[in-house]
Amino acid sequence: MDSYDDMNRALITDDVDSQCVDMLIANGFLVEKDITLAKQSQEQLIKKVQEVDILIVRSATKVTSAVIEGSPRLKLIGRAGTGTDNIDTEAATRHGILVMNTPGGNTLSAAEHTCTLICSLARAIPSACASLKSGAWHRSEFMGEELNGKTLAIVGLGKIGREVAKRMQSFNMKTIGYDPFITAEQCLTFGVEFFELKDLWPLADYITVHVPYMEGTHYLINDEVLSLCKRGVKLINVARGGIIDENALLDALNSGQSSGAALDVFEQEPPANLKLIQHPLVICTPHLGASTREAQKRVAIDLAQQIIDFKQGHSLIGV
Ligand code: NAD
Ligand code: MLT
Repeated sequence: MDSYDDMNRALITDDVDSQCVDMLIANGFLVEKDITLAKQSQEQLIKKVQEVDILIVRSATKVTSAVIEGSPRLKLIGRAGTGTDNIDTEAATRHGILVMNTPGGNTLSAAEHTCTLICSLARAIPSACASLKSGAWHRSEFMGEELNGKTLAIVGLGKIGREVAKRMQSFNMKTIGYDPFITAEQCLTFGVEFFELKDLWPLADYITVHVPYMEGTHYLINDEVLSLCKRGVKLINVARGGIIDENALLDALNSGQSSGAALDVFEQEPPANLKLIQHPLVICTPHLGASTREAQKRVAIDLAQQIIDFKQGHSLIGV
C-alpha cells in the first residue's frame, strides 16, 4: 500500500460547508475550493485535479474514469454525502484511490424532506399556495386526503427508509416495505411489514424509494411496476434519479394510474424532462434532501475528520 504521509493538497469542487476547509487547514492540509469546476469541461477539471492528492465533492461533480485516469497524483476522493453514484468507484479501486462517503450525516434531513413531500402531496400544499398567491380563492379545487390509515410502501429499508417509516407511523400510516438485505423479523422491530416487491406494489397508496442508484435499481419503478400498483398511487423519490423511469411516471400521471408524484432527484440534473416537472400533479424540489444547515455541517465535519484520521493512520468509517 502507498504511503499517505505526504498527502496534503485538497481540492473541493462542490458546495461543501466551510467547516470542512477549516478543519483540514487546521490539520496542515492545503485546501483550494472552486465550485465552478463542477460545471466546467472534464479537461479543465482534470487539469486541476492533477495538482492534488484529495478531491472533495458532493453530487454535482462527475468523477468519471477519465478524471481518475488523468490524475495520477490523486489518492483519495471524499464525498460529503451518502450516494457515490457520481464517482466511478471501480476506476478508483483499479487505480488504488480510496473513496470515502459520510454515511448517516444527512439521514435525518433526507427523511424529513421525504415526509414533508408526502404531507404536501396529500394536501396539494404547493399548488394551493401558488393559487392563493396568484389572487385566487379556490377552496374546492384543493380537496386533499388524510394520511391516516393509508399504506406507505418503503423500498429500501436502510438508514433513511427506517427514519421515514418511524415518522409516518405517527400519522397512523401502515408502513410496509422491501429490502433484499433485511429480514421480515428485523422489519417488525421498526414497525414495517415485509413484502416481496410483487406483493408490495398492489397494496400501496404511497410508494417511497430509498435505495442507492446502481445497475440493480435502475428503473426499479417502470411501466410494468406502475401497472401492478393501485390506481391513483402516489410516488416519492428523494433517493436518486433513474430509480423511477420518468417517462413511465409521466404516462401513469396522464392516465390517472398515478395521482401524484414528489420528486427531489432526476435522471438528469437540472432536469431535462420538463413535461414531468411541470405536470400539475408533480411536486418537485431541486435535490434538496440533504440541504439543511445541520446536515451540511455534519457531513463536512465527518468528512474532514475521516480524512484527518486516514492520514494519521486511525481506523475509518464510510470507506
Ligand atoms: P443505506 O445504505 O442506509 O440504505 C439503502 C438500503 O437500500 C440498504 O438497506 C440496501 O440493502 C437497500 N437496497 C439495495 N438494493 C435494493 C433493492 N434493489 N431493493 C430494495 N432495497 C435495496 O442508504 P441511505 O442512507 O438510506 O440512503 C439511500 C440513498 O438515498 C442513497 O444511496 C442516496 O443516493 C440517496 N440520498 C439522497 C439524498 C438527497 O439529497 N435527495 C440525501 C441522502 C441520500
Ligand atoms: C447524498 O447522496 O448524500 C445526496 O445526494 C445529498 C447531497 O449530496 O446533497
